[in-house]
Amino acid sequence: MASEARDRVFGKGVFIRGLIEFSNHCRNDCLYCGIRRSNRQAERYRMTPDEILATCSAGHELGFRTFVLQSGEDPFYGPGIVAEIVSGIKASFPDSAVTLSLGEHPPESYALWRAAGADRYLLRHETRNPGHYATLHPRNMNIDSRVRCLRTLKELGYQVGCGFMVGSPGQTPELLAEDLLFIRDLKPHMVGIGPFIPHKDTPLASAPPGDVDETLFLLGILRLMDPTLLIPATTALGTLDGTGREKGVMAGANVIMPILTPMGVRDKYLLYDNKICTGDASSVCRMCVQRRMESIGHEIDTARGDHPDLAFRASPGTPPAPAPSAV
Ligand code: 5AD
Ligand code: FES
Repeated sequence: MASEARDRVFGKGVFIRGLIEFSNHCRNDCLYCGIRRSNRQAERYRMTPDEILATCSAGHELGFRTFVLQSGEDPFYGPGIVAEIVSGIKASFPDSAVTLSLGEHPPESYALWRAAGADRYLLRHETRNPGHYATLHPRNMNIDSRVRCLRTLKELGYQVGCGFMVGSPGQTPELLAEDLLFIRDLKPHMVGIGPFIPHKDTPLASAPPGDVDETLFLLGILRLMDPTLLIPATTALGTLDGTGREKGVMAGANVIMPILTPMGVRDKYLLYDNKICTGDASSVCRMCVQRRMESIGHEIDTARGDHPDLAFRASPGTPPAPAPSAV
């Protein structure tokens, strides 16, 4: 049913986003995350603005028209530097969307980056339940602040994505229901979910991983709740199951996010163990996902892939339009 609902809105096209993991430094200490501050084993790196732009250029050649800039919460890239990176990418590739995934920041920074041309923002809420959130994060983090960020991002006219891990330690069906109700209330444009996968150098190293079928089931529910959502078949899903991303699309997903991070550092951005694609060049991943999608009767759609409510305004070269107040 979810697959049919997706087809009615989007057809068989699957949008691609080039993921650029430009820094794995992080000031935060989320208990599940391999690049948490306390992990002394993580080999840290930062890409320069020029390296990021060159990576976009290579991605553009490969047909990407969305670049997702993701990093830990790395204070090295202050608001001004991020704004310059964004405006640099938009100047060089006016036909492309820029998505930021940089964690929690003050409203002023979000506004500055939006003005610089950023189109979308990914910030998973992780779990809507305050008690559960507190078991997965250090004391200085809380769900209210996360939700406030998401609402601010929406007000600023970003296409906004929230989401959660499936099977995070302590998660129950009741807690998942809270996540779904929160999503119904927030009305995001994108929702990213993937199975929790333990990382060996975190406090949750011995916790069991999330379940692939449960992730697919929740993906289907999300699609049926809102057929217009942009939903990725995530790398984590592809890590737990060799054909997890194909299964994700068959369960209702319509986005895939191949990694564009350059070879020299891509094996260092490890949020969880056994991450796929860390030894493959960007061009290999690009062709690999195309083959995988074609194997299940889908095709790669190289358009920007804005949310249907906004796509009609997002013609190449025009500045991002503010989002309507109710999407
Ligand atoms: N397993 C699965 N997903 C993870 N993330 C972080 N750590 C893990 C893990 N161990 C997810 C979080 C975060 C996103 C970028 O990656 O949901 O928001
Ligand atoms: Fe980096 Fe959580 S450890 S955001």
